Amino acid sequence: MKKLIEDIPYLLVLASLLSILKSSNATDTISTTQILRDGDTLVSSGGFFELGFFSPGDSKNRYVGIWYKNIPGKTVVWVANKEIPVTSISGTLKIIEPGILVLLNDTNNIIWSSKMTRVAQTPIVQLLDSGNLVLREVNDNDQENFLWQSFDYLSNTFLPNMNCGWNYATGIESYLSSWKSGEDPAPGNFTLHLDPTGYPQIFIKRGNTTTCRIGNWNGVRFSGATGVRGKRSLYGLIIMNKNKTYYREDVLDQLVISRITLSQNGVMQRWRWVVGTREWVNFQILPVDIVILTNFVVLIVVAM
Ligand SMILES: *[C@@H]1O[C@H](CO)[C@@H](O)[C@H](O)[C@H]1NC(C)=O
Ligand SMILES: *[C@@H]1O[C@H](CO)[C@@H](O)[C@H](O)[C@H]1NC(C)=O
Ligand SMILES: *[C@@H]1O[C@H](CO)[C@@H](O)[C@H](O)[C@H]1NC(C)=O
Ligand SMILES: *[C@@H]1O[C@H](CO)[C@@H](O)[C@H](O)[C@H]1NC(C)=O
Repeated sequence: MKKLIEDIPYLLVLASLLSILKSSNATDTISTTQILRDGDTLVSSGGFFELGFFSPGDSKNRYVGIWYKNIPGKTVVWVANKEIPVTSISGTLKIIEPGILVLLNDTNNIIWSSKMTRVAQTPIVQLLDSGNLVLREVNDNDQENFLWQSFDYLSNTFLPNMNCGWNYATGIESYLSSWKSGEDPAPGNFTLHLDPTGYPQIFIKRGNTTTCRIGNWNGVRFSGATGVRGKRSLYGLIIMNKNKTYYREDVLDQLVISRITLSQNGVMQRWRWVVGTREWVNFQILPVDIVILTNFVVLIVVAM
């Protein structure tokens, strides 16, 4: 016993050392008692994505964004405060009652916040390995019950599992917006939407003018299941029911890193990360087969 008491100061030092080590470890969550400051980051549990403050291009402005953790060059896939930057490195991100994620500038003014859907008991923010930033109840992992998710509020990038389209229940349309410039993620001149009327199509608009329609998935192409051609790593899905019409892509091979971007001049590009040469390679979107699964679900197979 005496030995133990003598050891207490040492144990305390050890404990505080361990907690320092632990706090420098990456975390994927922010709770109501925590604050994310400029310089801190969240890392998704599998280490795929990272969230933090960044400055695009040569800009000095600070934005909260999400990028691939292990890809050099910080490829940003989502931005929170697209239109109002923090102008110093004193921005902070935290959860406030009753469950809203907010970004504060140096004078503690809220310059961006997540939309509130309902009152939360014990809200927590988590960065998932899909790149989705979600606000949820601490004990509820069910994605149907998320209070808010970044995947409903797109920037210029479309990732696997993101939704592009309409949620009729909330009236929210998820669509891509080009950046104003490489240094300004505010919505630029072009947007990319899913047109849910008739057979769904993806189309690009400049203001109110449609500049391009993609995937003329008309009745002629609905031919039922056909043989698989080539190697597929990605499926495009159109999910249609009473509550929503979404376009989504699912990756079959978890090693495939793929994204779609809408450029400042309205060009939709599909990119794939090539591990061997460590670079993003540009692919075209190429629907090859369309399969009706049920009355409500249409599967559009995309080859890469
Ligand atoms: C913080 O945001 C508020 C509200 O938008 C603005 O009036 C204020 O100037 C900002 N502070 C700084 C230092 O930018
Ligand atoms: C957007 O359109 C405006 C008006 O036509 C033009 O001045 C501006 O350069 C365009 N922006 C980009 C990024 O092309
Ligand atoms: C686009 O259309 C909406 C609704 O028809 C209209 O209110 C708006 O002024 C139009 N915008 C432009 C840039 O023409
Ligand atoms: C549509 O939403 C309602 C209310 O949330 C739900 O009860 C119903 O199951 C949903 N229907 C479909 C087809 O998802």
